Amino acid sequence: MAFREDRGWSRLLHPISPATFFAEHYDRKPLYIPGRPDKFADLFDLDAYYASLGQVELKAGLLNRAGHHEELVIQPREVEACYASGMTICLGAVHESHEPLSRLLTDIKRETVVAGEFRVNCYYSPDQAGFGTHFDNRAVWVMQIEGEKEWRHSPERAFDAPTNLVAMGPGRLGAPWEDIAPPDESQFVSTHLKPGDLLYLPSGTWHCPRGIGRSLALSMYVTSMSAHQLLMKTLEPILCADAAWRREMPCVEVDALASGEMPAVLRQVLRDRLADIQAKIATLDVDRLATTWYENLTTRGLEPGHRRPAARGQLGRGDRIDVVEGALTFLRTGEDVVIHFHPPAAYTHRPAPADLPREIVIEASALPFLRRLATTRSFEAHEAMYFSEEGYSWEDVEGVIDALVEAGALRVTPDL
Ligand SMILES: [Fe+2]
Repeated sequence: MAFREDRGWSRLLHPISPATFFAEHYDRKPLYIPGRPDKFADLFDLDAYYASLGQVELKAGLLNRAGHHEELVIQPREVEACYASGMTICLGAVHESHEPLSRLLTDIKRETVVAGEFRVNCYYSPDQAGFGTHFDNRAVWVMQIEGEKEWRHSPERAFDAPTNLVAMGPGRLGAPWEDIAPPDESQFVSTHLKPGDLLYLPSGTWHCPRGIGRSLALSMYVTSMSAHQLLMKTLEPILCADAAWRREMPCVEVDALASGEMPAVLRQVLRDRLADIQAKIATLDVDRLATTWYENLTTRGLEPGHRRPAARGQLGRGDRIDVVEGALTFLRTGEDVVIHFHPPAAYTHRPAPADLPREIVIEASALPFLRRLATTRSFEAHEAMYFSEEGYSWEDVEGVIDALVEAGALRVTPDL
């Protein structure tokens, strides 16, 4: 993995190396990394908190009388009163309004990709405020910015790959397929976070944070699709292209249930659907599933406004071509190569323009060309003719470069 010194993961996890973190802790066990008080000073502070209040979704968290966690959506004008009454103020996706945080996430996304998204929330809490005991269905990296916080948490993850946040409260814990026992809090470890400290908790780790005096902290988390979600996402367009799958289940007369036998009309529908999905599943292969994964990779790379080449004539052999970092991924499928494009980061939370290509399919002979692109920052157009041992014709090079410029994966500076 290409980790850069002093940026991205290295900057976040210092002095633990990203390689060590991913080998020993990521998605495995908690990690506490003490840091110098100013470690995160250039990422966020109280001024950034106040500046972000009017720009992001706000929630107030509180412990109710039963000691269980509750959250309310609030408006900026309600922040002071909620904070004064002991609630924790949560700023959702604060990286969207604060440039140093979006830069950190961009650096992280240049080093690691997930079929999902990295985000950062901010939590500002008064003395003793906190959350009830719960675990999340996603990993979290807590960065203490100002003040202090006591994190009591289970020493190991208590449940592998939970599908939802699970909070202690009345009733059953977790989804019907999750067999979750209440935690033994006497076994919890206590981690006292001070400014510059980081705490990593994998999903499924019980925790209950509590502010010690005023506390300002960031939580970076990752949401990445599960294998189950990937399969569902792959199947949906396949099934929904067929009216038989879109049609509502039959309306059955009550009398038809009186015999204890399954109504014939219901049996027929279910039998047909089951036969059909078994046939459709048999046509799926790993390339089709991988396509879904590629299509949902973390958006990264391009800046809007740079997608289109400047109005000009044909590609010149001396034109300088810059490769937009992280803008494309490609996958060989049989005799073809499918190139997947990732929309600009600015389109993460709104649809990218419909005319922005999402993928193109070209011959597998282009594979050496694409592999070379993946490790090249800049080249002159004619050099691409020698990106494979056999060489490419100028027409081939021109065609592929034009397509990649159109998709925003390459930028052209004409040789004037
Ligand atoms: Fe949590």
